[in-house]
Amino acid sequence: MKLNFLGNFPALLAVAGVVLLATGCDNKTDASKNTGGSDGKGAAPAVIKVGEFASLTGKEATFGQSSHKGTLLAIEELNAAGGVLGRKFELITEDTQSKQGESASVVRKLVSRDKVIAILGEVASGRSLEAAPICQNAKVPMISPSSTNPKVTEAGDFIFRVCFIDPFQGTVMALFAKNTLKAQNVAVLTDAAAPYSVGLATFFKEKFLADGGKISVEQKFSSGDKDFKAQLTAIKAANPDAIFAPCYYTEAGLITQQARQLGINLPIFGGDGWEAPELLTIGGKAMDGTFYSTHYSPEDKAEMVQTFVKKFKARWKNEVPDAMAALGYDSALVLADAIKRAGGTDGPKLRDALAATKEFVGVTGKTTLDAKRNATKPAVIIEVKDGKFVYKETVNP
Ligand code: PHE
Repeated sequence: MKLNFLGNFPALLAVAGVVLLATGCDNKTDASKNTGGSDGKGAAPAVIKVGEFASLTGKEATFGQSSHKGTLLAIEELNAAGGVLGRKFELITEDTQSKQGESASVVRKLVSRDKVIAILGEVASGRSLEAAPICQNAKVPMISPSSTNPKVTEAGDFIFRVCFIDPFQGTVMALFAKNTLKAQNVAVLTDAAAPYSVGLATFFKEKFLADGGKISVEQKFSSGDKDFKAQLTAIKAANPDAIFAPCYYTEAGLITQQARQLGINLPIFGGDGWEAPELLTIGGKAMDGTFYSTHYSPEDKAEMVQTFVKKFKARWKNEVPDAMAALGYDSALVLADAIKRAGGTDGPKLRDALAATKEFVGVTGKTTLDAKRNATKPAVIIEVKDGKFVYKETVNP
């Protein structure tokens, strides 16, 4: 499925006006490359084609939906303001269906068929890991809004992200377990099929053990599993103080519910993978008293955040933007800023400009990309209370 988004693309006449003004100041190589939208006579500055791949359907549909809504909002705002370098954006979105293998094939299409100049996505680390080598080989910069596994950007110098990484998130949750939950023995329940889960479990354990904590038991499952009774029974027998389940929301909801059914009334906590309204519909009442870390809270009083929440709700049927929406939004803005500084969309130049991103102010805080193309940002801890997500604290790096 391919979807094209021109956003609030103004009438052709208006575009023609911009075209005339921009002629001559646009990057030559770019114009000759014809990234789409021009009449081929070299007069019109081409539309800037940006690819996006996201899990719009399937098991992690809310990840893709949220991320996409934030990304598209940013693209529409950029276009309404005249675009960048006199050129408008066209967002071409592909659905990864939350399926393995799909990311590689849709990203290949975006690169070779659509000739996008950059790619935004994915949310889930496993899917970003699939696509990263393709973007790296094609020298098409890829920016993951929210994949936190360190390996994603290790795929090469064309791969970026605008969020923190899991060594930080693991540390935040290890400190939370020790200091806030006062846990000394923690059980860890990992999704062995998700690189995100395996990574976050590892970083959590490293920090928790280094600080004198104990891992009472480790259990594993595979994404898509529905019955966690065997693992939970083993966890119960090990008598921990709390359970860390660094997985995605579908499994987190089921795990918590089944734990309560087995009479396990310990605190259960996870990472950003828990963030989705479905956590509450799947887990129901059982979710009360659980915690997770994420990237932002819509309750943040900062003006930039509140303005974003207002605009997002106006655009998307009163929906409150979650962390994926906020990061999706920021990923598009970071890209636009780099195109402006690069003076065009040529891959290697755009790469250099992205790499030089410094203190870019977005809704998820300031983005500065380090030598490994990662961002350093604060984490937020959310508590589920009376069936609602409640902001608990912000943890700075
Ligand atoms: N960080 C998760 C991953 O790397 C994805 C995610 C980001 C989920 C933000 C929810 C919120 O797979």
